[in-house]
Amino acid sequence: MPDANKKKTATIKPVSPPPAALSQADDNTQVTRRSFFSWLSLGWLAFVAATGGFFTMMLRFFFPNVLFEPVQTFRAGYPEDYEAGEVDLRWKAKYATWIIRNDEGIYALSTTCTHLGCTPNWLVAEQKFKCPCHGSGFRKTGINFEGPAPRPLERFRIVLADDGQIVIDKTKKYQQEKGQWGDPEAFLKV
Ligand code: FES
Repeated sequence: MPDANKKKTATIKPVSPPPAALSQADDNTQVTRRSFFSWLSLGWLAFVAATGGFFTMMLRFFFPNVLFEPVQTFRAGYPEDYEAGEVDLRWKAKYATWIIRNDEGIYALSTTCTHLGCTPNWLVAEQKFKCPCHGSGFRKTGINFEGPAPRPLERFRIVLADDGQIVIDKTKKYQQEKGQWGDPEAFLKV
């Protein structure tokens, strides 16, 4: 017979959560970790965007948009630098201009073909400008005589500066077909 007075001893076992609760806790931990990394990524992206914007603004500040327009007016030396009967090519590449001296004076021809804008070449042997694109030909005066070019080459304003140098002003053009080559500044009498 069991002893009723016998002192009962209880063993306290550690209470462990049920497996379902454990898995939910894991899930919660994972969710928390996931959202932490999401926020971290968002924060990082925001930081990168802000830094990028800042450096873009700095670059715009130090290198602003500047429109480099080709030079329209230039000094071309002294009249004595040009020989009568010669087509001077020294300003062709830089200023798209030929300077030509004849017995009466000097004029500045545009190197732009009046057909579709290519750049003709001066052919010394044939004494003509020949356009490589569609074959238009121009006399030394700039008058067109072959190919599809519909009109002569244009001339630029040419004057003498106070120091005696030739000044070419490309903002002012003269067209032969409009009778403008007779303008006093379309031809320099020297
Ligand atoms: S562009 Fe010169 S001939 Fe056509």
